[in-house]
This record gives sequence, C-alpha cells and structure tokens, in this order.
Amino acid sequence: MVELPTKRIVLFASGSGSNVENIVRYFRDRPDITIAMVLTNKSDAKVLERCNTLNISALYFNRAAFSKSDGVLDILKGLKPDLIVLAGFLLKIPQNLIDYFPNKIINIHPALLPKYGGKGMYGKHVHRAVKEQGEKETGITIHYVNKDYDEGAIIYQAKTALSEEDTVETIAQKVHALEYEHFPRVIERLLEGD
Ligand code: GAR
Repeated sequence: MVELPTKRIVLFASGSGSNVENIVRYFRDRPDITIAMVLTNKSDAKVLERCNTLNISALYFNRAAFSKSDGVLDILKGLKPDLIVLAGFLLKIPQNLIDYFPNKIINIHPALLPKYGGKGMYGKHVHRAVKEQGEKETGITIHYVNKDYDEGAIIYQAKTALSEEDTVETIAQKVHALEYEHFPRVIERLLEGD
C-alpha cells in the first residue's frame, strides 16, 4: 500500500474556538491531513475545552514565549507545520515566526479587508463598526500574514448581504456561517496546491 504524505496544520486561537472545532471536524476523515496542535495565548480560552473534547493536543503559551523569545518558534519547528492557521487569534505575529514560515501563515478576518482591519479590529468590534457605517454587505477575508495587521496578500473573500434590521449579533452569525463554510475548504486547497 502506498502511504500518502501527511500534511500538518497548526492552529492558533485566543477565544471560543468555534472555527477551530469546525476545522478539526472537517479534516477528521482525512488521514492525509493532521491537526498537529492548537496553540493559545489565553489559559482560560474556551478553545482549550473544545480541544479536550475533540481529543486534539493543545498548548497555552505566555506572551514572553511568543514575542520576547524563540519559545513558540522552537515549538513550531518541532511540529513541522505545512500551514499555520490563525482562527480567531488576536496577537500580532512576531517577526521571527514570519521570517521562519514565509507564506505558511494565514489568518481569517471577519470583514471585507482592506475595510475594518488593523489593530483593535477583531470579533464584535468589527461587526459594530460595520453596523455603525450602515454597510449593505460584509464578509470574510482569508489572507497571508505579514508584519502588518491584516495587510498580507488576500487569498479568498466571501460576502453576505446586510439589511438595516441586522444587529451586531446577527452580523456575527452571518459572518461565522461564511467562516464555517469556506475556511476549511480554503485550507484544504492551499495544502493540496503545495
Ligand atoms: C472569528 O469570527 C474570526 O474571524 C475573528 O474572531 C472570531 C473567532 O471566533 N478573528 C478576528 O477578529 C481576527 N482579527 P471563534 O473563536 O468562535 O472561532
């Protein structure tokens, strides 16, 4: 029997981790694609509970290990990821990781970049700004990560229509629905295109 080479994904998350769970479930029936580990900067993040239930290795790291030393870089070197996926991860990626993994780190942003990006623009803050501007549509952007927040090359965008009745909560639901539908497929496509 010929064994397919396994592709390895490392996920980063800071909060609930519903995208992490969706990605893990999507690749469950793919023996050639492995979730090597989930890394988080929040010791009480709900994503840790999800990983426990899903039987996925997870690791908490502190700020110093991430941006003041090579602690996280050394862990990643050992994991040998084909793709590093930021799925609701809120810290800026330090230069040592960007230099070591060029074009291997991707992020999902819950709006149509270049609008509503940058420092402080995450989760509900984004949806609130979209609502306040009276936007007729919003969406998701999957992009490569570079040294500037939300400014790397765009890989994929998907849109959803908004009406005046939409609230911050319903906008968040619509955006999450797009994320669940498209994010795993884009990851799959990137891994298969290697
Ligand atoms: C997602 O909507 C993701 O796009 C967003 O955080 C949410 C995490 O949800 N990311 C950012 O805002 C990054 N700037 P989850 O923890 O349930 O997957």
